Amino acid sequence: MDTTNLDINLSDNIPEDETGRQYYYIEKARLYVQELSQRIGRPLTFCVTTFGCQMNARDSEKLRGILKEIGYLEAEEETADFVIYNTCTVRENANTRVYGRLGQLKPRKKQNPYMMIGLCGCMMQEPEVIEKLKKSYSFVDIIFGTHNIFKFAELIVQRFSSGKPVIDIWEGTDAIVEDLPNQRKYSFKSGINIMFGCNNFCSYCIVPYVRGRERSREPQAILREIRRLADDGVVEIMLLGQNVNSYGKTLDHPVTFAELLTEIEKIDKIKRIRFMTSHPKDLSDELIEVMSRSTKICRHLHLPVQSGSSRILQKMNRRYTKEQYLELTEKIRKAVPGISLTTDIIVGFPGETEEDFQETLDLVRKVRYDSAFTFIYSRRTGTPAANMEDQVPEDVVKNRFQRLLKEVQDIASEVCAVHEGTTQEALVESLSEHDPSMVTGRLSNNLLVHFPGGEELIGKLVPVYLKECKGFYYLGELAG
Ligand code: 5AD
Ligand code: SF4
Repeated sequence: MDTTNLDINLSDNIPEDETGRQYYYIEKARLYVQELSQRIGRPLTFCVTTFGCQMNARDSEKLRGILKEIGYLEAEEETADFVIYNTCTVRENANTRVYGRLGQLKPRKKQNPYMMIGLCGCMMQEPEVIEKLKKSYSFVDIIFGTHNIFKFAELIVQRFSSGKPVIDIWEGTDAIVEDLPNQRKYSFKSGINIMFGCNNFCSYCIVPYVRGRERSREPQAILREIRRLADDGVVEIMLLGQNVNSYGKTLDHPVTFAELLTEIEKIDKIKRIRFMTSHPKDLSDELIEVMSRSTKICRHLHLPVQSGSSRILQKMNRRYTKEQYLELTEKIRKAVPGISLTTDIIVGFPGETEEDFQETLDLVRKVRYDSAFTFIYSRRTGTPAANMEDQVPEDVVKNRFQRLLKEVQDIASEVCAVHEGTTQEALVESLSEHDPSMVTGRLSNNLLVHFPGGEELIGKLVPVYLKECKGFYYLGELAG
């Protein structure tokens, strides 16, 4: 990017605490942006594209918050001066998509001398990726990883002041930097990180390598953030972590996830609490008890099973058996009647036989999930499973995947229909995408309902009569 003659001076009293330091850099970056937009006679724009999970979505809100604070305006990717990809690397195809899109950006950058490209997220934590980017994608301006996302403003300043690409990847960190800006996608609901990283090392999964060891935020910091969000109009929160059930174990004064939930529940203006993801091996009776008593915790639990074969589960290092998982889901259903259960399933893990796959189908039929994310096993370099023998042939995996998908979908539409004819509370999220005279609301069990209504309902909790189940969503009408 053309940054010649950009000479910004701010006092050199850089604050020592990390939050203060980053606000200092936000201020400094703002001056660069101001000067550049004056020079070219128009505002500068940005677009952040998120790949992957809810953690990344939350991280992207932080990036947006910083960019807005710096003075960038949000725009569509096609016209943005600063394009940022927040990447995922859980499966190989996520990486392939990023390279494809980067290739398309290159000619655009030639046309727009003020354009910058930023890459961050899990994929950047892989050394081979950084090597490839350095070699074949040297037009990328800023590259950082999952551990130093809080440094975004500082890296932007570095890019502006040096005129050279900036690559800053940390192998790990203990730092949790609180109170930086963020720009929520919805005014009435928000995700909140309660912990970072994962210690489980499931044998197929790259997350522990790219997100680092498990670290929990202090409960007081979480509660402070939620209170602030509540005062700002948020009624529904989603607590985020790779394994929320082991929240708090590593704190100086350990706190359980159930205790954290109990404290959050006391915040008056928060009406709904969700969380993800739960690991079956760590889901405690204490949590089930808190869920059964709660009026705010949503009637939905995402409980990834990954496979229904105890043999495969052991090779996956999941540390539960099919029977233990089934016992757990029964216990939850008994304690929280009407709860919706959803899951993640991997097909084609190394060594998976037809019998193993049948065990998965059997489990799906027994649990009767409200929905399930099904994935084809992806070999991730650096994980133990990548070196296992008996990788399953592609055609076999694809065939199993289709059979599983059909089973999951058939059951889901049956399960969904059971609420037909009832009235339930929905949080209205948006105008309906298909019909602007309708709105779309989310039920406690995470299903969507479309019903006649206008913009004034957005952000409100309203009773909705569920007239007709359409497989994966409802058509309804405002009740009472
Ligand atoms: N291949 C396929 N799916 C995977 N997941 C994690 N790693 C892999 C992999 N190597 C899935 C798991 C996890 C979800 C987020 O992604 O099902 O729960
Ligand atoms: Fe990956 Fe397992 Fe950790 Fe989930 S619990 S992030 S699947 S290692």
